[in-house]
Amino acid sequence: MKQDMIVILDLGGTDNSTVARAIRGLGVYSEIHPHDLTRRQLEALPNVRGLLLNGGPNRVVDGQPVQVAPEVLECGLPVLAIGCPDLSVPNREQATEEVLAAFLFDTCRCEANWSMDAFVEDQVEQIRRQVGDERVLLALSGGVDSSVVAALLIRAIGDRLTCIHVNHGLLRKGESEQVIQVFRERMGATLIYVDAVDRFLGKLEGVADPERKRKIIGAEFIRVFDEAASRLEGIRFLAQGTIYPDIVESGTRTAKAIKAHHNVGGLPDDLAFELVEPIRTLYKDEVRACGTALGLPDDMVHRQPFPGPGLGVRCLGAITRDRLEAVRESDAILREEFRRAGLEGQVWQYFTLVPDLRSVGIRDHARTFEYPVILRAVHTVDAITATVAHPDWAVLDRITARIITEVPGVNRVCYDLTPKPTGTIEWE
Ligand code: XMP
Repeated sequence: MKQDMIVILDLGGTDNSTVARAIRGLGVYSEIHPHDLTRRQLEALPNVRGLLLNGGPNRVVDGQPVQVAPEVLECGLPVLAIGCPDLSVPNREQATEEVLAAFLFDTCRCEANWSMDAFVEDQVEQIRRQVGDERVLLALSGGVDSSVVAALLIRAIGDRLTCIHVNHGLLRKGESEQVIQVFRERMGATLIYVDAVDRFLGKLEGVADPERKRKIIGAEFIRVFDEAASRLEGIRFLAQGTIYPDIVESGTRTAKAIKAHHNVGGLPDDLAFELVEPIRTLYKDEVRACGTALGLPDDMVHRQPFPGPGLGVRCLGAITRDRLEAVRESDAILREEFRRAGLEGQVWQYFTLVPDLRSVGIRDHARTFEYPVILRAVHTVDAITATVAHPDWAVLDRITARIITEVPGVNRVCYDLTPKPTGTIEWE
């Protein structure tokens, strides 16, 4: 890492991530570390130019009052405290852009040399150093994180990366095809495509409970990936799309060290691999910018969030193939019409779902007894609360007209008007 770095020590400030991002926004790389970072750990970090102590009125982490070790304060680096007037270091009440810029550029003499191109160059070098002549394995779902990791690794080690793409039948329309087209055909990746659709749908047959569905999908994914991986020999590393919020609990008072082994791609931590995690210091918007810098297509990079169990939790109750196809087709129509109406990027998440109940309708003068499609479109900042989006009626009319004519087995379209709370964003 050649770029200058500011280390933020978490002293109980609730806005560590906001401060870290504001510093990065000024072109200087920053990392959040726990309050009990030792001087040795600090000195082992590359190119640290300054230390920012981000406190709060109580300076409490996990219920315990915190102090910074004097040896850290005496490390010889410029130090600025935010909200810690009792410490014998320069202190400001708030980390405004002005305060940060003066600290970075006047006090610490940082260069604004952190950019996505610099990050990519740096990671390519680091990956090569870590991996040497060995091979790396990656579970490539086609989501933003795994796609960016794949593109970085392809740039760093080319065909010594092997990607496994598991199609469990619960992906959106065209997603598996796009993974193959972008990574195998365009980027020349070694990509193993596993068609596990029948296997997943078989396991899910008759299972109506959402939590059981989730567990089955997660467990089966591990089994399928493991089987495909065990056919490959001599692979020492596993790449994962861990990102910074997985490591630092953003907005909380504790900058936890690493929990990376646990949560990404649904893979367990006892697989016999060493981990490569090239985007572990990036926030989500930075991951997207990195994808763009690596030449990934816009619609892959700017994807809306998509749950791990995929369409499996949008085909409500026990999954059947006809309703699953109705979810997939109607979701594709909704996305296409939102894009056409300029709503892509304006609405945080939008999708369709199909319940396991039918209603009476009429088509060509004859009675029908078919499924409804429910549209859901929400605005949110953090997915903890959400409000309903209000697209024009004309857009909703167009979507409805297309769904009832193009999607077999559907005779009715509804719009979900429920905010979160009381409704969660997904129905299951
Ligand atoms: P809810 O439905 O809880 O969803 O309001 C909040 C956000 O989380 C996503 N979500 C999931 N993501 N695995 C995931 O990776 C899941 O099982 C899951 N369930 C919900 C949901 O799409 C929304 O963005």
